[in-house]
Amino acid sequence: MTNKTDEGISELREKLWQARQVVVLTGAGISAESGVPTFRGEGGLWKRYSVMELATPEAFSRDPKLVWEFYNWRRELLAPLSPNPGHYALAEMQRRIPRFTLVTQNIDGLHRKAGSTDVIELHGNIWWVRCTGCGKLMEDLRVPLPEMPECPTCGALLRPNVVWFGEMLDPQVLNAAYEAISNCDLMIVAGTSGTVQPAASMGVQAKRSGATVAEVNLEPTPYTDTYQISISGKSGEILPRLL
Ligand code: OAD
Repeated sequence: MTNKTDEGISELREKLWQARQVVVLTGAGISAESGVPTFRGEGGLWKRYSVMELATPEAFSRDPKLVWEFYNWRRELLAPLSPNPGHYALAEMQRRIPRFTLVTQNIDGLHRKAGSTDVIELHGNIWWVRCTGCGKLMEDLRVPLPEMPECPTCGALLRPNVVWFGEMLDPQVLNAAYEAISNCDLMIVAGTSGTVQPAASMGVQAKRSGATVAEVNLEPTPYTDTYQISISGKSGEILPRLL
């Protein structure tokens, strides 16, 4: 017996292997099955902690120790976690599809750990730090980092290389995402609530440029009725079935 999910998967599978250029946009939901808390919904990070006290440039100027405590806690939480079948399915798709771009809002680095390459990380990566003095960017895998980590080159305070609320996304990173989106004929939007711009409207932009857009999510989002295909379920179960 086929149900709506099976039909959606068959339709998407067919489109996927016919597409010339594919973009996948992921959000926190893709990492949920690895044990990473999402931001919204039951048990979400922003239900327990205040964004304004922890994830803004103002918070960092006011109390860098507190902000680093929060990021050190998240690094400790993430360090032992592994990618799940959803991450691995996307890495495999990239190997099989010649023109494939993975765009993520996640900072957890799990797509790279699963073997995806050239990942467009819209919101940065928690495993990279940036010097507030000389601007140097470095990968730093220490867990935990010192309370107030210092730049090895100039001694100034380091910050996590992530995008905070009120900050601009890196224009080069954003342009790379838009370029892929405007040229794709299929976009899959997986595990994102579609509440944070500019990522939230990227699916609509792909659709306007003529692409088929498919959503994979546990719950309906503001865009569920807008996209041509909507598959309800866990990304770790749905995405491997597209291979
Ligand atoms: P959210 O926490 O807002 O949304 C997670 C989405 O994943 C929800 O729509 C869930 O229904 C869905 N979901 C949960 N588990 C799932 C699963 N196993 N399979 C499929 N879907 C699942 O996370 P994002 O949309 O990623 O930004 O949030 C966007 C941005 O808001 C984040 O990048 C972060 C946050 O504040 C910054 O920190 C700048």
